[in-house]
Amino acid sequence: MDAYNITVVGGAGLVGGEFLKLLDERAVPVGRLRLLATKRSAGKVIEFRGNKITVEETTPESFTADDHIVFLSASGAASKQYAPIAAGRGSFVVDDSSAYRNDPEVPLVIPEINAQDLEWHKGIVSQPNCTTTPMVMALNPIHKVNPLKRVIVSTYQAVAGAGSAAVSGLESETRAALEGRHEPSGTQKREIAFNAVPQVDLFAEDDYTKEEIKMANETRKILHAPDVGVSATCVRVATFFGHAMSVWAEFERPVDIAEARELMSGAPGITMMDDPANEVYPTPMDVVGTDKVLVGRLRPDTSKAGGITFWTVTDSIRKGAATNVLDVITEAAKRGLIRR
Ligand SMILES: NC(=O)c1ccc[n+]([C@@H]2O[C@H](COP(=O)([O-])OP(=O)(O)OC[C@H]3O[C@@H](n4cnc5c(N)ncnc54)[C@H](OP(=O)(O)O)[C@@H]3O)[C@@H](O)[C@H]2O)c1
Repeated sequence: MDAYNITVVGGAGLVGGEFLKLLDERAVPVGRLRLLATKRSAGKVIEFRGNKITVEETTPESFTADDHIVFLSASGAASKQYAPIAAGRGSFVVDDSSAYRNDPEVPLVIPEINAQDLEWHKGIVSQPNCTTTPMVMALNPIHKVNPLKRVIVSTYQAVAGAGSAAVSGLESETRAALEGRHEPSGTQKREIAFNAVPQVDLFAEDDYTKEEIKMANETRKILHAPDVGVSATCVRVATFFGHAMSVWAEFERPVDIAEARELMSGAPGITMMDDPANEVYPTPMDVVGTDKVLVGRLRPDTSKAGGITFWTVTDSIRKGAATNVLDVITEAAKRGLIRR
C-alpha cells in the first residue's frame, strides 16, 4: 500500500488508539499522521513509530487537500460536521459513527461481504456498528446460498463499546462495589458493575433502542436484503472488552446444520470454536486484542425445524471498529479508490 497521509479525528480515543496499534502491527506505510480530538485532549502527546505526535483540537480548518485519508472516530455530531468538509477537500473519509450508516448515498462496508460497494462511494464510507459486524459475517456464508429471512439476536456487550470513559467507569464502580459502596459512574443507564443493563443507546421506535434498530437496518443494507426481519435485544454487561451475542436465524430453505458448519468454517474472518463434547466455545476473553469473529454453540433450532442458533464473540474495538476501518482502507487502496 502507498504511504498515505492519514488524519484521525478521535485520535486520543479508544478506537483511535487501537487504529494506531493496528497500523504498526500490519506495518502499514504512513505518510504524515495527524491526530485530532476536542480541546480536552489537545496538547496531549501520543507516540507513533518513535515520533511524538501532538493531538490538535478539531476545527473545520483542520482538513486540508493533502489529507489522503480521514478516519472519523469521534461522535455522530462530529462526523456530521466534519465528514462533508473532509470529503469536499478530496479526502477518502471512513466514518465510524452511526451518522451515515443509513444514508443511501454512503456505502456501509465489511470488505469480507460487500467490498464491491466501495466502488460507488462519493467520498464517505461508513463503518457498521460493532454488534452488526460479527453477526452478519457469521450469517453471510449461509445467506449467499440460501437467503436469510429472519434473525432474533440478544447481545452481551462490553463497556469498551461505549468508549474509554465507560471502561474507566466499570473499573471505578467495581472497586467501589467490592468495598461495599454503590457509586454509579453515569457511563451507562444503570450502575454496570456486577450488572446487566438491557438498554444500549436511547429508546426509539416500537420500544426498541437505537442500537437495536441499527442492527436491523445495517444487516439489511450490508447483505443487500431489504426484507430480512430482525429483532434485537442489546444488553450492556459488566465485561471490559469483547462483545458476545446469541443469534437465532431462519433462511428461505431449512438449513442442514452440517452444511451451515461447513459454510461458516470456510468464510473469511470466521473462526469456529465449537466442540461441545469437550466444552469448547468462545468467550469474550478469547477474542480480546484479536481480529477474529469466533463462533461456537452452533446447533439446530429444536423449537422450529430448519432454523439455526449460535453464539459469536468479537472485540468491538478491533473487527468491530479499527480493524474493519483498516480493512476498508486497504481494499479501497487496492481498487485505486483513494486519491493521492
Ligand atoms: N468503542 C467501540 O467498540 C466502537 C465500535 C464501533 C464504533 N465506535 C464509534 O467510534 C467512535 C469513537 O469511539 P471510542 O470508543 O474511541 O470513543 P472514546 O474513547 O470516547 O473517544 C472519542 C474520541 O473522539 C474525540 N471527540 C469526541 N467528540 C469530538 C468532537 N466533537 N470533535 C473532535 N473530536 C471529538 C474525543 O476527544 P477527547 O479525547 O478530546 O475527549 C476522543 O478522542 C464513536 O463514534 C463510536 O460510536 C466505537
